[in-house]
Amino acid sequence: MPTIKEILQTMDYGPAPESTKEAQAWLDQHGRRFGLFIDNEWTEAQDTFASTNPADGVELAQVTQATNDDVERAVAAARRAQPGWVAMGGHGRAKVMYAIARLLQKHSRLFAVLETLDNGKTIRETRDADLPLAARHFYHHAGWAALQAEEFADYRAVGVVGQIVPWNFPVLMLAWKIAPALAAGNTVVFKPAEFTSLTALLFAEICQQAGVPAGVVNIVTGDGRVGEAIVNHPGIDKLAFTGSTEVGRIIRKATAGSGKKLSLELGGKSPFIVFDDADLDAAVEGLVDSIWFNQGQVCCAGSRLLVQESVYDRFIAKVKARMQNLRVGSPLDKSNDIGALVDPVQQQRIHGLVEAARAEGCEIWQPACEAPTAGSWYLPTLITGASTSAAVAQTEIFGPVLVAMSFRTPGEAVQLVNNTVYGLAACVWSESISLALDVAPQIKAGVVWINTANQFDAACGFGGYKESGFGREGGKEGMYEYLTALSEDARPAAPVVAAKAAAKPAAGDSPFAVDRTAKLYIGGKQARPDGAYSRAIHGADGSFLADIGEGSRKDIRNAVEAAHKAAGWSKATAHNRAQVLYYIAENLAIRADEFAGRIAAQTGSKDAAREVQASIERLFYWAAWADKYDGQAHQPPMHGITVALNEPVGVIGIVCPNENPLLGFISLVAPALALGNRVIAVPSEAHPLSATDLYQVLDTSDLPGGALNIVTGSADELARTLATHGDIDAVWRHDGSAEGCAEVERLSSETLKRTWVGGGKGRDWFDAKQACGRAVLQHASQVKNVWIPYGV
Ligand code: NAI
Repeated sequence: MPTIKEILQTMDYGPAPESTKEAQAWLDQHGRRFGLFIDNEWTEAQDTFASTNPADGVELAQVTQATNDDVERAVAAARRAQPGWVAMGGHGRAKVMYAIARLLQKHSRLFAVLETLDNGKTIRETRDADLPLAARHFYHHAGWAALQAEEFADYRAVGVVGQIVPWNFPVLMLAWKIAPALAAGNTVVFKPAEFTSLTALLFAEICQQAGVPAGVVNIVTGDGRVGEAIVNHPGIDKLAFTGSTEVGRIIRKATAGSGKKLSLELGGKSPFIVFDDADLDAAVEGLVDSIWFNQGQVCCAGSRLLVQESVYDRFIAKVKARMQNLRVGSPLDKSNDIGALVDPVQQQRIHGLVEAARAEGCEIWQPACEAPTAGSWYLPTLITGASTSAAVAQTEIFGPVLVAMSFRTPGEAVQLVNNTVYGLAACVWSESISLALDVAPQIKAGVVWINTANQFDAACGFGGYKESGFGREGGKEGMYEYLTALSEDARPAAPVVAAKAAAKPAAGDSPFAVDRTAKLYIGGKQARPDGAYSRAIHGADGSFLADIGEGSRKDIRNAVEAAHKAAGWSKATAHNRAQVLYYIAENLAIRADEFAGRIAAQTGSKDAAREVQASIERLFYWAAWADKYDGQAHQPPMHGITVALNEPVGVIGIVCPNENPLLGFISLVAPALALGNRVIAVPSEAHPLSATDLYQVLDTSDLPGGALNIVTGSADELARTLATHGDIDAVWRHDGSAEGCAEVERLSSETLKRTWVGGGKGRDWFDAKQACGRAVLQHASQVKNVWIPYGV
């Protein structure tokens, strides 16, 4: 007598195709030719290209390749519409966005089928995941529009936003981009990916029906050249991009110095970690969602499987058995799991990477099933035997390809997990919540799913660490990406500072010169500059004040090393960090007169005493925040919670302002330290002595060596080194040099560091609105969302 399991294994599903009638009728209604949607009007279709169904290669429609003039007109329409959209008020915008959400729900079947036709992903995914999440995004953000005046009282909309998305989640990415932008009062110029423009064009009709005013949403189609035109347009105030890390880098470079706000959601090589105490069957199901959802064409796909050695063989056997049951075939069939790849180009790319792994000796395993012959397909694939540095273990494959490895201890797992340039997401499977919650904070990634995978919600921020980009989408943190603090508008012009001194050999003038030179401060010790050069610092009246060490590339390298060794500072309790900052304030207060004298001598300021008092107050202020910038517990529609943790960014290089040499220095260094970052500070180039005088204060304040390193010298030279250094996570530059700030942004594109630059403007460091508050805390931290379902 066969067992129930055996009976179930012999049963098969019959075909259950979804009807395409409505979607085909919609395409016919448009004559299968689409123009652009600008200022609530459709342009004539021109210079078109084909959008095809990747499952069978059949053309669906012709879509317009927008020109630079089209982008120009779209930006102009968005600019004209923006004040009116803001003037509608939070409630007015909420009503329109609510109507969009309702219409998305009403037409969700049409959207889902059109998406499946255009992208090749299964109808199960478009119907059950993409469309409900897209509608949820508009509902959620209609709420933020309604709450904007109360929750973001000190902010305004950024203005006109350019948004560029990839082809893997066309309508969902559209919702992630457009919903928060509109809620905050921005208008948008949106570009879908060239492979998948159709649902964005259908969305344009939804905007018309929902009463979105003309010019608020503009949709321009075409390839990367259209993206470039948006990126480079001077009328764009903010860019939001999702796509490859390579294009992310290009955009970072192209926008350097432009003052455009930027958020980048880029690639990943996310780990799926299985500990030996995990529920292995549940973990296999999670893995299916993690790597085979959307054929693995997901930025946060769990493409690196890390299994604890003791259960590795058992788990791999279970994975292979499950892969055998994955159904590959027509994406429109409701019972299929794996659909088509977006384009043959993607198929070739995946094939190339897998075959290279085979040639390197890896074992390639695929289930015994057949993919359709027409269109672009790739069978679910498991690779074993790859080294941790192999291309398949490091490169984003963006296909249904899983690379499996084993580990022995949690410590080794964390090391392997973080052995990548990316940091988007991770899954941790263990029945021990204590182990999972111990590992989660050690993972350098913006999202960690515990005993679950690929969960998303509009209330929870999503975005990466490291080369996976910066900025968050969703949640309150996502709203800030589309807002500008009002205090930014009040910033003064940068002050004119004294002419810069040239460096000279330190021992040049007198035999005692080296000894009198203020040294650098590295690893908690005073250190002579590597190059043995110094520069003379003169006072406001032209008199010689002191020589200071001329820091070089080598000194920055030493400082970075010291900062990395001081990792304990990031792990210290917030209470302890606050105590150290209070202690610095106390010790500074004891020497207040001396510091005031030094400020006056350097700058000629009549406000020197007030500057010292303000610096002491600022230290107290940031110490206060150390244990109060808490995260949040979100309640997404799941049985469980999502905990948003504010984590330090890591090692931050800070080029300090020239105005207020003490207050400017403290105002930037203290918040970074308060939140657990380690700092390499370059004091004011013109007036560095207020910072070098601090060494003794720091020595007596229990600040661990390496938490704060100070390197004096040329701001341009040192900033360049900071921006190009591979082991620095962020660079801030606030010395009023527009060109210098642009250079920091440009050079930081290589490792996609986070930057915070003041541009060519100054800042009133006495004004708490300009120098304090949430905006600074956000620069000093990054949000990690940890998803913790209950009862699984
Ligand atoms: P891509 O990054 O080239 O394209 C994404 C979007 O950017 C598209 O709308 C494209 O037209 C636009 N674009 C291209 N060049 C541009 C430029 N210079 N300036 C402005 N916009 C530009 O990604 P692509 O070529 O579609 O895919 C290549 C690889 O990138 C994939 O195999 C995958 O590894 C990765 N990728 C990662 C995504 C993610 O979500 N992390 C999404 C899409 C691709």
